Amino acid sequence: MEIKTFGVVGAGQMGNGIAQVAATSGLQVLMSDIKEEFTERGLAQIDKNLSRSVEKSKITSSEREAILGRIATTTDLADMAKADYVVEAAVEREDLKFEIFRDLDAACPDQVILASNTSSIPIGRIAAQTKRPEKVIGMHFMNPVPVMKLVEVIKGLATSRETFDITWALCEKFGKTAAEANDFPGFIANRILMPMINEAVFCVYQGVGKVEDIDTVMKLGMNHPMGPLALADLIGLDTCLAIMETLYDGFKDSKYRPCPLLRKYVEAGWLGRKSGRGFYSY
Ligand SMILES: NC(=O)c1ccc[n+]([C@@H]2O[C@H](COP(=O)([O-])OP(=O)(O)OC[C@H]3O[C@@H](n4cnc5c(N)ncnc54)[C@H](O)[C@@H]3O)[C@@H](O)[C@H]2O)c1
Repeated sequence: MEIKTFGVVGAGQMGNGIAQVAATSGLQVLMSDIKEEFTERGLAQIDKNLSRSVEKSKITSSEREAILGRIATTTDLADMAKADYVVEAAVEREDLKFEIFRDLDAACPDQVILASNTSSIPIGRIAAQTKRPEKVIGMHFMNPVPVMKLVEVIKGLATSRETFDITWALCEKFGKTAAEANDFPGFIANRILMPMINEAVFCVYQGVGKVEDIDTVMKLGMNHPMGPLALADLIGLDTCLAIMETLYDGFKDSKYRPCPLLRKYVEAGWLGRKSGRGFYSY
């Protein structure tokens, strides 16, 4: 089955990044969100990224025009009926993703694969919302999508070999390196990363160290390119909390208990870079 039109649900930081790499690879892209101002914001971010690439002579201005010309937007999820493959990148809330997958299942032709960019929600649970569980898969891009090489591809219990192979080939088409994971909460990436971030937040909470010092220890002592608290701000503290909740709920193990300070920041609307304030101010 040839994939010509690639659907992306959600035009936030992940959705617009995925739309950018798909359009750059030559696919037609349809990007949706719930309001036009969000799809416009997503498009503006893509334009900004591509303009920067033109300034750095990585692409020409006519390539920039061509990539932008391949991206259409919509606020009607039913338009995803036109797509040959859909990846969902809406906010990390199980109820919301369930509803989106039920709607996509109703709208899209039977052969269309429905992927989720979820950071931690079990793929099998999402797949069970549809009548095509063999065509549901995790396609977990990293942030920022145009820069990061990895895509974690997650097989649900029912995911077919064909669905897996098509998804793997798409990652290659996008110039990414794929890694295969099985379906457990957090998969590989966030099973390992997020407890470390949560522990860094506990270090702030318990006064073990100041934010800058915690990040300095991990950058210079462990050779991490970013400190865990700066990374949490980049990911979004709401997303970090949602992932910890999924790990805690999935394993029923207190070692995954979200730090109360993380919850407090999210409740205050301190979501990191996207809201202008998190562990740092932007
Ligand atoms: N932030 C990261 O570093 C990161 C990395 C990998 C995966 N993810 C995952 O990607 C997904 C999106 O995260 P993000 O950081 O882009 O969040 P974000 O808040 O930047 O964007 C989410 C977007 O989804 C939109 N949305 C909400 N309901 C919708 C609906 N019903 N239909 C269409 N769009 C809807 C929102 O309006 C928003 O624009 C989450 O599942 C998250 O866990 C995030």
